Amino acid sequence: EQQTQALMDSIAKKLKQEDAVLVAHYYTAPEVQALAEQTGGFVSDSLEMARFGRDHPAKTLIVAGVKFMGETAKILTPNKRVLMPTLEATCSLDIGCPIDQFDAFCNEHPDRTVVVYANTSAAVKARADWVVTSSIALQVAEHLNQQGEKILWAPDRHLGAYVKKASGADIIAWDGACIVHEEFKARGILDLKRAHPDAEVLAHPESPDSVLEIADQIGSTTQIIQAAVSSKASKFIVATDQGIFYKLQQAAPDKIFMIAPTAGNGATCRSCANCPWMAMNELEALDRVFEVGGNEIFVEPALAERAMLPLERMLSFKA
Ligand code: 13P
Ligand code: SF4
Repeated sequence: EQQTQALMDSIAKKLKQEDAVLVAHYYTAPEVQALAEQTGGFVSDSLEMARFGRDHPAKTLIVAGVKFMGETAKILTPNKRVLMPTLEATCSLDIGCPIDQFDAFCNEHPDRTVVVYANTSAAVKARADWVVTSSIALQVAEHLNQQGEKILWAPDRHLGAYVKKASGADIIAWDGACIVHEEFKARGILDLKRAHPDAEVLAHPESPDSVLEIADQIGSTTQIIQAAVSSKASKFIVATDQGIFYKLQQAAPDKIFMIAPTAGNGATCRSCANCPWMAMNELEALDRVFEVGGNEIFVEPALAERAMLPLERMLSFKA
């Protein structure tokens, strides 16, 4: 506890000295989120992290999240220095969608509008017409469908299937998945619901279809928090990374939140639903962020320029 506080104080001091601001994702550890809040930084979902980083006047952005978030920040603000606690923090969706294979996939479907999730490399974004995050994925698909466009979707197959079903759009999806959300089990959630019949199920759309089918509300991390605040229910089963509990408890302190089971028998697992890459954003790594070298984000300028187009579409999209 004392050591945590000392580290937080040390990082706060360095942020000030270096004219840097800390932007953290909801899935990072509670102390990282608290530090961002206490130092004038920001905690949010991937869409709002991108917007905040772009608009904040600090010369250096410290991105506590996964690599694609750092890359997005760099593409949107090429003149800022973007540092991450570790560049090893990746994402199974990004890993599962290498640019050469993705490019071939796009070439097979030249008549389709290419929509990629923010959880992809800069190169994949540069090959796309649109970038979306889960908070606007459905609305963008509805918008494109209304324009009569057919969609090529990548990389998350669960989000793709959900958006296809909900929007009625013509979608062909890449076969990627999030290793965290894919583990949630509908049977386990139903078992837990039997013990807590008044609990509502809140699910991130990267969860499997069987989980989304029994969810009361489906949405991005921010939408899950908003749903918990506005719902009349006082108990929730939450199918997304456990890191979100810090904000859920802060936003609705009188409500009870249970992690959705990753086993079929309703048993919860303390280490499950915890993205291993988000967990790499430790305070120790943040304390060394200005010193270690090799953890600055660079994006090749020609690629960044191309990726900027679909990213700007994402940021200016009005649902
Ligand atoms: P959000 O866009 O909801 O922040 O989700 C990002 C993510 O990595 C989900 O697993
Ligand atoms: Fe990627 Fe899943 Fe981790 Fe989000 S939770 S960063 S989608 S692996």
